[in-house]
Amino acid sequence: MKVRLRRLRANGTIRAMVQENRIDLSELVYPVFVAEGENIKQPIETMPGIYQYSIDMLKEIMDELYNNQIRSVLLFGIPKHKDEVGSSAYDQHGVIQNAVSYIKNNYPDMIVIADVCLCEYTDHGHCGLVKNGKILNDQTLPLLARMAVSLAVAGADIIAPSDMMDGRIGYIREQLDQNGFTDVPIMAYSAKFASAYYSPFRDAAHSAPAFGDRKTYQMDPANGREAIREIEEDILEGADFVMVKPALAYLDVVKEASMRFNLPVVTYNVSGEYSMVKAAAGLGYIDEKRIVMENLLSMKRAGAKIIITYHALDVARWINSEK
Ligand code: PBG
Ligand code: ZN
Repeated sequence: MKVRLRRLRANGTIRAMVQENRIDLSELVYPVFVAEGENIKQPIETMPGIYQYSIDMLKEIMDELYNNQIRSVLLFGIPKHKDEVGSSAYDQHGVIQNAVSYIKNNYPDMIVIADVCLCEYTDHGHCGLVKNGKILNDQTLPLLARMAVSLAVAGADIIAPSDMMDGRIGYIREQLDQNGFTDVPIMAYSAKFASAYYSPFRDAAHSAPAFGDRKTYQMDPANGREAIREIEEDILEGADFVMVKPALAYLDVVKEASMRFNLPVVTYNVSGEYSMVKAAAGLGYIDEKRIVMENLLSMKRAGAKIIITYHALDVARWINSEK
């Protein structure tokens, strides 16, 4: 008897029947940059197709997402005021708190995930407090927790800490609970690597560090075992979701996390991954749609349950136009 694996590839119908992974719009999250001010729809030069919006201009993109069956957004804020301690991050009427309540009031069944980190709000651009050129860990935790609680008060459905300070998941969980938000889940950026793939995001969010780099808190790209330890720790501290970031260069970590841990694994298909595809597609070197679907499928195959991606709206349009 000969093995003939081609039997199950004979036509599109049977291929669909045996297909192991699919892209489901309910599992895609679209990141949105919200700038303080009015009448802003500012293209981000390094991320073709992505914009900063002021709250009064959010309706356009939110309607478009909603009508295309994207039901989840991840919000980042661009405040007018930055200072040493990132005070706009935990201002109850800050840009991101206001954006959360605007979206929840107008799109109640949209899942609003709020990124928690100080780097968009500090004048030095680091994710934690700085003293003598060092990024402080324990002193940063209360500020992150304040930000998280203010976002929960504003109505955020999920809190997503991306700062990589040690112990923040447990600290934030406790503060959320003490303030009555026992039902608000935490999506932990657990294995977040110090990656060159974030640079377009830093243009988009004006969050590049003014000195040094993020290597004392984000992970070394060489370390896979340590990534598992970070994830384990966040689960012990109470994370409801764990994330691996970036996605494509770290699919081994996604795979291992999904095999070891019984909670949803999220991967963040970051700005640089998006921009490389857009740039090559813009030059006509690759077929954008096929490349994007192949990339996203590779993340599903590695075991990602949820994918955060700037391609989400394009993908939704492609999928919806096939129906
Ligand atoms: C900030 C943050 C970053 C991203 C998400 N949250 C950048 C960074 O750590 O410098 C990157 C997202 C992307 O590149 O798409 N903590
Ligand atoms: Zn940060």
